[in-house]
Amino acid sequence: MNKKLFPSIAFGLLATIVAGGAISSCTKSAAKGSDNADIEARVEALLSQMTIDEKIGQLNQLTGVGCTPERVAEIRSGSVGSLLNEVDPDTVNALQREAVENSRLGIPLIIARDVIHGFKTIFPIPLGQAATWDASIVEEGARVAADEASSAGVRWTFSPMVDVSRDARWGRIAESFGEDPYLASKLGVAMVNGYQGDDLSKPNTMAACVKHFVGYGASEGGKDYNTTWIPEPHLRDVYLPPFKACADAGAATFMCSFNDINGMPTNADTHLMRDILRGEWGWDGVMCSDWSSIQQMVPQGYCKDLEAATEAAAKAGVDVDMMSYAYVSSLKNLVEQGKVSEKVLDDLVRNVLRLKFRLGLFENPYVDTANARRFFTESNLAAAQHAAEQSAILLKNDGGVLPLKEGVRIAVTGPMMDAKHDQNGTWCFDLEKDKTVTVLEALNDMYGEGKIVAAPGLTYSRDTNAAGIAAAVAKARTADVILFVCGEEAVLSGEAHCRTDLTLPGAQKEMLRQLKATGKPVVSVVMTGRPMAIKDVVDNSDAILYCFHPGTMGGPAIANVLSGKVNPSGHLPASMPKASAQAPLYYSHKNTGRPAEGMMLMDEVPLEAEQTSTGCTSFYMDCGDGPLFPFGYGLSYTDFNYGPVVLSSEKMDAKNGTITASCEIENTGSVKGATVAQLYIRDLVGSLCRPVKELKGYEKIELAPGEKRTVSFTLNADDLAFYNAANERVTEPGDFQLWIAADSASGEAKGFVVE
Ligand code: GLC
Repeated sequence: MNKKLFPSIAFGLLATIVAGGAISSCTKSAAKGSDNADIEARVEALLSQMTIDEKIGQLNQLTGVGCTPERVAEIRSGSVGSLLNEVDPDTVNALQREAVENSRLGIPLIIARDVIHGFKTIFPIPLGQAATWDASIVEEGARVAADEASSAGVRWTFSPMVDVSRDARWGRIAESFGEDPYLASKLGVAMVNGYQGDDLSKPNTMAACVKHFVGYGASEGGKDYNTTWIPEPHLRDVYLPPFKACADAGAATFMCSFNDINGMPTNADTHLMRDILRGEWGWDGVMCSDWSSIQQMVPQGYCKDLEAATEAAAKAGVDVDMMSYAYVSSLKNLVEQGKVSEKVLDDLVRNVLRLKFRLGLFENPYVDTANARRFFTESNLAAAQHAAEQSAILLKNDGGVLPLKEGVRIAVTGPMMDAKHDQNGTWCFDLEKDKTVTVLEALNDMYGEGKIVAAPGLTYSRDTNAAGIAAAVAKARTADVILFVCGEEAVLSGEAHCRTDLTLPGAQKEMLRQLKATGKPVVSVVMTGRPMAIKDVVDNSDAILYCFHPGTMGGPAIANVLSGKVNPSGHLPASMPKASAQAPLYYSHKNTGRPAEGMMLMDEVPLEAEQTSTGCTSFYMDCGDGPLFPFGYGLSYTDFNYGPVVLSSEKMDAKNGTITASCEIENTGSVKGATVAQLYIRDLVGSLCRPVKELKGYEKIELAPGEKRTVSFTLNADDLAFYNAANERVTEPGDFQLWIAADSASGEAKGFVVE
């Protein structure tokens, strides 16, 4: 029993007397299941007892070093509020006991970790989960992650990452839900709900942390940590919506980003954090810095020293200082000098205490060690496999080479065919790689070793030693079909892992050419953390299955898809470039005054061609325009026919009108399959140029052979709104178009008028 902290009932009574009026009417509870009135009262009661050192200690987050004497001393003195990277339940309990039993006020610690796409059971990377276009899969993955991680003592995860990512050079696109704000919003909310459940005080939940607030995906040049230039209307149209959706869903915490926006570091951006996040949106959660991001405002050239950075961050509203040691070193002095008011400090502390009450840590501070380490359960592995199956995207299938026919002899090759570590992708701190089931293992299990010949040819994705290719080609000649499992090692995407060359690394391109030269059918399975420039893979493969690092059960999932046990239904969450230099590349682009047409490509240009003879429109002479495969694209083993779009009306009132668009979809093939019906709109004329398309709805439907179903979407006036030059959200009258199609590049436009 915690002798330091008042029993929760007495505490609650005292608190109610002290701070009954502390409830702000405009705040939106940043966590479902929390009783605001009781918690706010308990926050005020506790805050009123705290010294300035104890207050600042609650804002200090340090990385785990185990239960060392130095760390114990820090905790006992009340100078640590949360720890990241402690994942042994016994260590967590030992550290927590120091806080609860041996510090003056007994305030429990929060233990945090980057649980990005699974803790022990690894799900596809978020970009792969986005390829499922299925919020229920994303929510289930987050629930599994929360159950596993909380059984190790983790109650705060730094996920979901909802940065809209439109530049495949940027390694962190792997952690994102891709290029579209609408899809990222839906799936970010699903992940928040999966982590937090219906009551954040339950011990098997985790506080979500929506990151990186904001605009990080626009890092110039696709180079991590780089500057961004984002006019506010564009920020509000593209980058803010997923964060707003997650805030409205009750996300308990946010994390600010490393980048500056137009020269203003987000860690000091009062307009972002106080005017928009807490003012306009009414959000009352905890804003955590990124790792040493407060201190980084010094090299960014915004603050002259750590004290100035501390002042800027505290005033802007960064509640928790992750690893800058800024708040513990400078904040007391700033408050005593009057440069930072005690009210500002108290508000930061209130947010942290509120989170701890919402997490139920005062009632349940310890890991239930009798029920700890709930990892790799059958149902968790099944959920991970299902997610991986649904995330696989069929990009090409010439001659119906897939699904593999019964009895075929398969040559399994390529550096990713048996990749127990790399199959899991980035951000797998707690991976147990021997639990990974690889493609080779799964195919051997499925077909029997006699039907499989295998030789990697290359030992890892960057391998340039071509000596092993000959042996792989020789084995391939003995088979009926060649499976080339290629792509990127996990380390080639994720934080700080940006690439300018988006093609297959190492000698993989050469190996594929030699495999193709055998004349055997080649099926390429691409395992990667980003949309890659795979034109050579398309040219040298009869079929392509694209699998963003699929996780622990990626092998069985891919085997089930290749064999036809599962009909692939993944759709691209990001555009696939023809060439690396097309980045950034996205479907929701502006039309320009000279949209690409009449393109004369470089090889077609005659000698001494006259200057303007090659076409004066917006394209590249060496690759034309547009993606290799468009956002939203994905094939199936069956075919779907999308009928004409039918509108409930040709007109919509700009103030409060609605319009319903319907489309009959038929499975015209011979097997059951799923397709993702996508609703896009276009505002043809706006007070600012508008994109050629914007996703405003989608529905994944499964149809039996011959089955027809009508999908319907209802748009309201606000769905057509955008932010104008004055930062006002407006729906402007005029001509619009909409599509219901299987990807962003297909379908017939249907016009309507907003009046
Ligand atoms: C990293 C990342 C952030 C992560 C944090 C803690 O630098 O930017 O996404 O949550 O530090 O590991």
